[in-house]
Amino acid sequence: MESLNFSGLDNKDFKEDSVREFIIAVLLKELGFVDRDLKNPKPLELALSLKITSPTILGSNEKITFTRFPDYVLYVDCKPHCVLDAKAPKVKIDWQSKAERQAFYYAINPELKAPFYALCNGESFMLFATNGQSLLKEFSCEELFANGFKNKSFALLRQYLTTPLESLKQTLAQDAKTPQKSEEWYLNRELPRAIVNPKKQAKARYFGCTAYFTRQSWDIVTQNIKNFTDKGDVVLDPFGGSGVSAIEAMVNGRIGIHTDLNPLSIFMAKALSVKVDLSALYDLGEEILKEFENLKPKNEKEAKEILKGAKYYPNALDSEFGEIATQKQQDFQEMSFCQRGAMWIAF
Ligand SMILES: C[S@@+](CC[C@H](N)C(=O)[O-])C[C@H]1O[C@@H](n2cnc3c(N)ncnc32)[C@H](O)[C@@H]1O
Repeated sequence: MESLNFSGLDNKDFKEDSVREFIIAVLLKELGFVDRDLKNPKPLELALSLKITSPTILGSNEKITFTRFPDYVLYVDCKPHCVLDAKAPKVKIDWQSKAERQAFYYAINPELKAPFYALCNGESFMLFATNGQSLLKEFSCEELFANGFKNKSFALLRQYLTTPLESLKQTLAQDAKTPQKSEEWYLNRELPRAIVNPKKQAKARYFGCTAYFTRQSWDIVTQNIKNFTDKGDVVLDPFGGSGVSAIEAMVNGRIGIHTDLNPLSIFMAKALSVKVDLSALYDLGEEILKEFENLKPKNEKEAKEILKGAKYYPNALDSEFGEIATQKQQDFQEMSFCQRGAMWIAF
């Protein structure tokens, strides 16, 4: 099958089924996956169109009820390892595409909790890490088939899809290790450019949610980490404070070590870096949405009724609900806030 002509993918008859039959099935066979047999399990198994019972949420308010199942679940040593979905050529399968979101929610499903998920549209084979929802590698299908599968891309795909998670982590950490840097290396390093407007308070960053008194700007910290270390290096901040150094280190693929005299600093750094059970988080999200659906106003009248009792609603000038608070009312509320502030300062 290595003779598959990839230019044929443009043919309108080459659909999702063809991707399954001529590309994915061939790759999985070559990797050594066999049909799952619960009575006589093998190290590499696959389940086709596995039925998942829990519902899934896509995005914050769009709900998907299952009309179909993940095309393939790959098992390594009997543990779900990767969820793989097939798509027709030209269907978008990159990060944040609808297909990617759907595969991610399959992967975090409590019945699976697969560490990887992947999509293949016959042109590309995209492999994602569930924890972190990040693209690990985009393979070109043509490259994977090249030279009768004797190529680097296929070897890497084999490593990801067939190595048990723990051994894979060790191998990848080993690969990421760089030689120790000398003092000279650090001293000869060019200093990064000064950041004129540091993003100390940037809400999008997790540090926006803590108020530790020493908090440094994350973008300055991250820039220095990138400049003075490589992936896999260790970054130690013995006076870690808000945790910015250790966390930015982790975000950038380094190992972060955080210590501090202050237990509050340790508490916060731990809370910011704790491993999240994505399935539990997903269940919680679903519960919140359900509650929101129950409580949200069903029409303008109900919305107005709810807002009647509210003392301050600056965003109420919303086109959906009409002008609920007048500008005068809002200005008045603003003023009393300031006055209160001034009173506090004077006090
Ligand atoms: C300047 S702040 C750290 C700044 C940090 N990079 C940040 O962005 O938040 C200094 C920190 O050192 C801690 N500290 C002070 N003396 C210490 C000591 N002897 N051992 C460990 N931590 C100490 C303090 O509790 C404080 O959190």
